[in-house]
Amino acid sequence: MSEAVAAPAVELSKQARSRPEDIPLDQIDVSDPSLYESDRHWPFFARLRAEDPVHYQKESPFGPFWSVTRFNDIQYVDKHHEIFSSEPTVLLGDQPEDFTFVNFIQSDPPLHDEQRRAVQDVVAPRNLAELEPLIRERMQSILDGLPVGETFNWVDRVSIELTTQMLATLFDFPFEDRRLLTRWSDVAIATPELTGSEAVTEDQRRAEMADCLAYFTRLWHEREKQEPSFDLISMLIHGESTKDIINKPMEFLGTLLLLIIGGNDTTRNSISGGVVALNQNPAEYDKLRANPALIPNMVSEIIRWQTPLSHMRRTAKVDTELAGKHIRKGDKVVMWYVSGNRDPDVIDRPDEFIIDRPHARHHLSFGFGIHRCMGNRLAEMQLRIVWEEIQKRFAFVELVGEPVRVRSNFVRGYSEVPVRVHPLQ
Ligand code: HEM
Repeated sequence: MSEAVAAPAVELSKQARSRPEDIPLDQIDVSDPSLYESDRHWPFFARLRAEDPVHYQKESPFGPFWSVTRFNDIQYVDKHHEIFSSEPTVLLGDQPEDFTFVNFIQSDPPLHDEQRRAVQDVVAPRNLAELEPLIRERMQSILDGLPVGETFNWVDRVSIELTTQMLATLFDFPFEDRRLLTRWSDVAIATPELTGSEAVTEDQRRAEMADCLAYFTRLWHEREKQEPSFDLISMLIHGESTKDIINKPMEFLGTLLLLIIGGNDTTRNSISGGVVALNQNPAEYDKLRANPALIPNMVSEIIRWQTPLSHMRRTAKVDTELAGKHIRKGDKVVMWYVSGNRDPDVIDRPDEFIIDRPHARHHLSFGFGIHRCMGNRLAEMQLRIVWEEIQKRFAFVELVGEPVRVRSNFVRGYSEVPVRVHPLQ
């Protein structure tokens, strides 16, 4: 074993320092970002699932909201878009009224369906098959460049690098500037008001979003003079429902950001999460070494276990009832995927990481219904290739310190995963 690296201390709320059973039920507030940063949210959700599965939060920094914590209730909400709207936002925190993005993840039909149709071909099975050799080649060169014998941050060297290269490919974005995509993705939702993150202030977020808009506007004007091609910008330019989107800056910016964030944080944190999960479960790592054919199943288990997006929010369109609770028109309803994925009534031994788990694809991490993740097959393919290429090179990607987790009630991920790689003998 290599020498351990210490993680910085997490600033905990009073709640995160307590045991959930010592807090009155109506005061449990799962919007608290320090619960996720410290990985202490699990027993809070276990208590809600058992005692108050559709839980009303009267007061929180994000206003009042309902928490839906059981698998089947979450699936019900996600599938009933006519009752539970994705407008005006899918984050717990409201967007500022004078700076509201418009895009299809936070739209109901018909706008949702039209805009999703305009870009979904980029991740159609035929194109994924074409992308596969390129992803593999890029992964190989990232892995071959890792510093054997040194401790390094897996998040930066592998997870961010691969997902950013993929995004640059999907947008045909200038390769040398690709880390701008990572930055914009991180900044877009990283304010205290939106997700409890403290990475940037609202003013800084707006300034960087303006840079993002200016950059893509320039790319749009360059590309509209060229023949249609198979990248997301060209598809927006030539899509019937999106060809005028350039004249609606908040819609253009919102759609770009959806595609950037959709394909970035999520896959990134699944790549990092796999390393953490296998190190915490050495017997599963042994199973993988003995049988690499388990990789596709393991990928689904990683995505369930990690749940890279903790929640999606809806807003009730009408008065309705859920698990015996009366929800009023206009109420915020939060689907906690991170909790539903650990629901023992639906998932056997849900807290365990089991790479050959039967029915591993039956999880909530990609959502359900009309908003079900557009990039789910791309994400699975990237993760499969990552692990196939890792197993060809390394006997062990060793976690050598505590992972540093992101402070957010939305993105469930890591900023640092210190590792050492041990090549196959
Ligand atoms: C492990 C990786 C990923 C996870 C966990 C994930 C998760 C999600 C979730 C939870 C939703 C909302 C589902 C709902 O409301 O029912 C979503 C939507 C979406 N995702 Fe992903 N995602 C991942 C990867 C990707 C990738 C690689 C792309 C790139 C194309 C992508 C693009 C999108 C888009 C465009 C939407 C909006 C779909 C709609 O509203 O119709 N995602 N994703």
